[in-house]
Amino acid sequence: MLQNDLLLRTLRGEATERTPVWMMRQAGRYLPDYIKLREKYSFFERCQRPELATEITLQPVDQVGVDAAIIFSDILVVPQAMGLEVQLIEHKGPVLPDPIKTAKDLERLRIPDVEESLGYVFEALRLTKKELNGRVPLIGFAGAPWTLLCYMVQGKGSKTFDEAKAFCYTQPELAHQLLQMITDTTIAYLKAQVKAGADVIQLFDSWGGLLSPADFETFSLRYMRQIIAALKDEVLTILFAKGAWFALEEMAATGANGLGIDWCITPAMARKLAGNSVTLQGNFDPARLLSPIPEIEKTVKQMLADFGPGKHIANLGHGILPNVPVDHARAFVDTVKQYKHTN
Ligand code: CP3
Repeated sequence: MLQNDLLLRTLRGEATERTPVWMMRQAGRYLPDYIKLREKYSFFERCQRPELATEITLQPVDQVGVDAAIIFSDILVVPQAMGLEVQLIEHKGPVLPDPIKTAKDLERLRIPDVEESLGYVFEALRLTKKELNGRVPLIGFAGAPWTLLCYMVQGKGSKTFDEAKAFCYTQPELAHQLLQMITDTTIAYLKAQVKAGADVIQLFDSWGGLLSPADFETFSLRYMRQIIAALKDEVLTILFAKGAWFALEEMAATGANGLGIDWCITPAMARKLAGNSVTLQGNFDPARLLSPIPEIEKTVKQMLADFGPGKHIANLGHGILPNVPVDHARAFVDTVKQYKHTN
């Protein structure tokens, strides 16, 4: 039994005494204790050693007071398990030295046995669940197929992911083959996360908003729909497609319990597009956490008033930035926890 199940009840659409709050990328580089661990262990060592992943997952729960834990890992462990080399280079981000460009490259990939290749994630989930001891729910996650394709084809981060798009537009059959392989792997991966104790699953489509509405349907939503359909009878789900506000109606129709939104849309407009049944999550501008604390308090209260009571999970509109002072993150969380809706 959970002592704090605000997140779960909000995702089910139930009324709660207050709005739940967590922050995307809450376990990470703005926390001094995380930075200390980074000096001793490589990024993938931190992901692969369950006791380290658990320690990092718990840091924002203990130190910032969020209403949910999200397992410390990365979306790129899936391409890694499928057979691609992934490096994380400090101050540069992910690098995949042998990206997918041709049909021949696709032959190097496999749909892995997830227990064998990603067992360390399930181990970390089990250990974290035990250490949490029912304090807050535990969120598992994966990258959406389109966002993973972006990295697998481009080979690194990019503002436009033009090479990934060119791959889809010049070799669509190959692109769909790759997207389906990622989808099949992701379904098995997320089902195993649920078995290991994840209470909620979030899909991160960080680059969904780079596509036109028609291409988003073809190269992203079609696959996310399959994943939500495979999971929705087993676990609560959240879809976060950054920048893809134009597809809120279609995303609500997938049956996901929650939809993440970024700060480039008003809560009222998002609600209008998404309809009244789904829970919305967001949408504080992560850079707004760099404002002075009184200003953070004011803008958070405005956001909560704009969403109104119920069917809202307070969060950022994208991941927390590494240069956010910890007391500013805490001010965000505390303001949500103390807020009382007037109606
Ligand atoms: O939310 C959490 O606290 C859990 C951990 C988590 C990480 N990555 C740890 C991480 C989650 C949920 C992710 C998701 C992720 N990873 C996404 C989707 C969300 C988003 O922000 O759009 C993406 C696109 C990635 C790929 C990735 N991993 C990038 C682009 C980078 C480098 C730049 C960056 O944002 O940090 C990473 C590395 C990474 N993943 C770090 C952490 C804490 C930083 C590594 C370090 O410096 O220690």
